[in-house]
Amino acid sequence: MYAAVVHAFGESPRYELLPDPAPGDGEVVVDVLAAGLHPLVRAVAAGTHYTSGDRLPLVPGYDGVGRLESGEAVYFSGLVPPHGSMAERAAAPRSSLIPLPDGLDPVTTAALVNPMISAWMALYERAELQAGGAVLILGATGNAGRAAAQLALLRGAQKVVAAGRNAEALRELSGMGVHQTVSLDASDEEVAVSLGEVAGDVDAVIDYLWGHPAEVALAAVAGARPDPAQPLRWVAVGSMAGPSIALPSDVLRRINLDICGSGAGSAVPDRVDASLRSLISLLPAAEVRTEAIAVPLAEVHQAWNRNLATGQRLVFCPDLIASGTPV
Ligand SMILES: NC(=O)c1ccc[n+]([C@@H]2O[C@H](COP(=O)([O-])OP(=O)(O)OC[C@H]3O[C@@H](n4cnc5c(N)ncnc54)[C@H](OP(=O)(O)O)[C@@H]3O)[C@@H](O)[C@H]2O)c1
Repeated sequence: MYAAVVHAFGESPRYELLPDPAPGDGEVVVDVLAAGLHPLVRAVAAGTHYTSGDRLPLVPGYDGVGRLESGEAVYFSGLVPPHGSMAERAAAPRSSLIPLPDGLDPVTTAALVNPMISAWMALYERAELQAGGAVLILGATGNAGRAAAQLALLRGAQKVVAAGRNAEALRELSGMGVHQTVSLDASDEEVAVSLGEVAGDVDAVIDYLWGHPAEVALAAVAGARPDPAQPLRWVAVGSMAGPSIALPSDVLRRINLDICGSGAGSAVPDRVDASLRSLISLLPAAEVRTEAIAVPLAEVHQAWNRNLATGQRLVFCPDLIASGTPV
């Protein structure tokens, strides 16, 4: 079969012939229709993700949409390096297969599920956001951040604060019904004042950035709590702005702060499965906020580092002949 193959961490994959995957226990071979190039997939291929491992060459790709021998189209996920979904065929865990509901196309599904499930798990399972709650989304302008804003509004949050640096995306978030936006494209002092004014009383922070913006936001929110005993759950979901932060000890004592993460290793597998099924059943009726761009898998090497606008996501399709053609 043809596959995208990474020979050295950080290099663009090449479109090459590989032997078909040999399914292990509990795995089933799917004909891949579409596989999304998510930040996780890039990080694994760059060797910088905690799941990267050290096995090369590797086929990138964590999830996708495929067709079973029966002809049924399914969403699949949970592929572990070096065996990924950016290939004509992939061996997927049987337990991960979810039939695609009517009205959902493979490319959109492959683009949407990863950012949306990150938001779902972080908000509903880790932050346990309730109707009437208040949440700050740090890094709200990306695909996952916008999904988090959408899901927080859907849950009935009384306050959703979206913080990010892309002005146009922040305007779009306001149009979606987000209650407050904070520009991160400003000095630390200005960001801290704005966050203190509008996010001091939130119940949860869904953090896609980490790094310096998280340090500024943590100090600002901690310094503006109307009641220090009010629980604040800070959920680290991504690290777009940096892999680590400096965490002053006093912040942990001054307020009722609980820092946790949401990701592959921190969620209970049964809950991930149930959440994925619920999410996918809702997708046909969902307002889609991600622009999926279908690209032939044969063009993976040239397309891998393509500059994308906020909200776009590349999806590689083995059966696609030319870019832009629907599968
Ligand atoms: N743990 C999980 O389950 C899980 C699942 C999915 C995603 N994630 C993680 O969540 C993060 C976001 O994923 P995504 O799918 O939303 O990615 P995405 O669509 O590529 O969006 C990334 C966003 O990050 C913003 N950004 C990058 N660097 C920034 C900085 N220094 N300050 C402020 N904003 C910055 C970009 O803003 P601009 O528009 O201004 O460039 C963009 O809006 C990634 O780290 C990803 O790995 C985690």
